[in-house]
Amino acid sequence: MIETADSGRIWLLSGRTSGYALHLTDHGELLHLHWGPRLTLADAEALALLPLAPHRPFESPLDGQEEYVVECGPRFARPALSVRTPEVRGTEGEFAGADVDGDELRLRFADAVHRLGLTLHYRMRDDSDVVERWATVAHEGAPGDPDLELLRADAAVWTLPPREGWRLSQLHGRWAAESRLVRSPLTPGDKVLGSRRGHTGHQHLPWVALDAEGTATEESGEVYGCALGWSGSWRIAVQHLPDGRVQISGGAGYDDSGLLSLAPGHAYTTPVFAGLWSPDGFGGASREWHAWQLARVVPEAGRVRPVLFNSWEATRFDIGEEQQRALAGRAAALGVELFVVDDGWFGERTHDAAGLGDWTPNPERFPGGLKPLADEVHALGMRFGIWVEPEMVNPDSALYRAHPEWVQHQSGRRRTEFRNQLVLNLARPDVQEHLWEQLDGLLSSVPVDYVKWDFNRSFSDAGWPGEEYPQRLWIDHVRALYGLLDRLRAAHPSVDFESCSGGGGRIDLGILSRTDQVWTSDNTDPLDRLAIQHGFSQLHPARVMAAWVTDSPNTLLNGRRSSLRFRFVSAMAGVLGVGGDLTRWSEDELAEARGWVELYKEIRPVVQLGAQYRLRPPEGGLSAVQYVRGDDAVVLAHLQAQHHGLRPPALRLRGLDPAAAYRCLDTGAVHRGAVLLHRGLDTGLVGDLDAAVFRFRRAGAGEG
Ligand code: DGJ
Repeated sequence: MIETADSGRIWLLSGRTSGYALHLTDHGELLHLHWGPRLTLADAEALALLPLAPHRPFESPLDGQEEYVVECGPRFARPALSVRTPEVRGTEGEFAGADVDGDELRLRFADAVHRLGLTLHYRMRDDSDVVERWATVAHEGAPGDPDLELLRADAAVWTLPPREGWRLSQLHGRWAAESRLVRSPLTPGDKVLGSRRGHTGHQHLPWVALDAEGTATEESGEVYGCALGWSGSWRIAVQHLPDGRVQISGGAGYDDSGLLSLAPGHAYTTPVFAGLWSPDGFGGASREWHAWQLARVVPEAGRVRPVLFNSWEATRFDIGEEQQRALAGRAAALGVELFVVDDGWFGERTHDAAGLGDWTPNPERFPGGLKPLADEVHALGMRFGIWVEPEMVNPDSALYRAHPEWVQHQSGRRRTEFRNQLVLNLARPDVQEHLWEQLDGLLSSVPVDYVKWDFNRSFSDAGWPGEEYPQRLWIDHVRALYGLLDRLRAAHPSVDFESCSGGGGRIDLGILSRTDQVWTSDNTDPLDRLAIQHGFSQLHPARVMAAWVTDSPNTLLNGRRSSLRFRFVSAMAGVLGVGGDLTRWSEDELAEARGWVELYKEIRPVVQLGAQYRLRPPEGGLSAVQYVRGDDAVVLAHLQAQHHGLRPPALRLRGLDPAAAYRCLDTGAVHRGAVLLHRGLDTGLVGDLDAAVFRFRRAGAGEG
């Protein structure tokens, strides 16, 4: 709901439990008023009467107060908008009007010097606490006027209320160690997170959370969170200003490498930078993010994801039709629902130095093309998926030989061939059209139900020889990727897409709005995964988090041995997949795995679509995560190591009705809700790397 004060200068957006207010002063400055619990319009009007900080010669009264900081005049905080023409740098906007359109508020400003129009967009829905913000910058001049150079155009600036101090939570990592949570006190100055790699990156998820004075816990206290929806280079800057105020700006691009030039008549729309306030701790904030993504971001999120098999760890590049048929037979017998052939099925792709870009089946490996395998997979009752990496090319490929000019390249410079591959310049319309034809042709000629879309190197030579504004390549690459995905989804509505970038190198709200799930990490070690998944769940729901059970020992990373039980219970916290070499699993292992897959199918609506409670973080001892949906609850518990013969602590459950009784479907025992919530559940886990699943159903529910 959006309310406007009679003055026409105060706007109040109200969501499920929170409110957001802004104020246009008599001097035409747009100030932030409130972000927190719901307020009335009268409260917001009272807030607007509070005096600003007194003027001091070296401080700006506007710093830390403005809704969207522009570069100009008495402002020393980091600007969200920085614009220049050859003559004038900075922008100064006059208020030009407000529109309310359903859930969306638009505030318009005009800069007469630059002939620039700035629109700030806000959207808050009644059933959510997420505020979506973005901005549009338009060159409203006439032909012949100088272009506007956009040095920076962030999506939004979030302002936190004055408090004595703040703690910052972030998700950092690298390849095979993504999305690990770290919390630290926020110190004065700027904390900048981002990626200058052309994709979201393994190093940081574009998300931060802040809690005042470090007082929030998993289930209590106020938490603010911000997350960006952009799959290219990006930057989130958390500023702790000299007077203790905190503002968070974020948008596409890390530095000026991707700066844009706007010609008269052209406009730039930023990605969405979403924010939320939660009174219910980090867990409450996560559940609110999850609910919003399931309702508003992820396509058809109400459909549960199938259990998949992926061939990568089992066969790497050494693949062939017979071997894939053998794996498919075993996968189907386990209860797998989707069989995905990973890298190695096309062109000369027998290793990572050739074939990328040539999207036709390798005739020696698949003599009749992919259709016979796809038909067999379908006959086995599974859906059929393939791996592609459309944005890349190996120099040793037919595509590169035909079009060496299609790759990103800086004239006269040496280029980098990470993983023996180059990045195609997707900003080029001819490259876009070629990829469309290749992918549309592939999906039209083979009965493919699922596409795993990979991206295995960062930009390092982002040049476009002969192009006047080569820097637009950074943004246009992402737009072209989004355009291709959108077009393919529209033309092939029954095909699902997975986003992968060497594991979790491209996970953000932008890609999630056009893919069905993401590959969380190339690290499939079930113990390491607990930490990666714990971080991932701070922002994203289990419904999109792919997790595979692979072989033991883990030969890729650490040689760790773990039981099938531990591997399955770890992977069941997301979208379960199997990625081991099933032809080497014993009959006993296959039989056990069949049981786990069956159990997962039973609990998956609760895991994938339920409310998630992180009961205990994975810090060495007992950790657990719980999911609640209607009358059902599921607990996945893991014990890393038992010490000194001590029994692990009881697990205090969450989200149950204290007045109800719950039957544990695994033990048959009936527990009082109040007891599970307060005294807790004994897991019985012992030793090292033990794990268990507990299913609870409200007694009486579904029993007749
Ligand atoms: C990186 C992905 O993360 C893996 O799962 C696999 O698809 C390989 N690429 C294939 O090259």
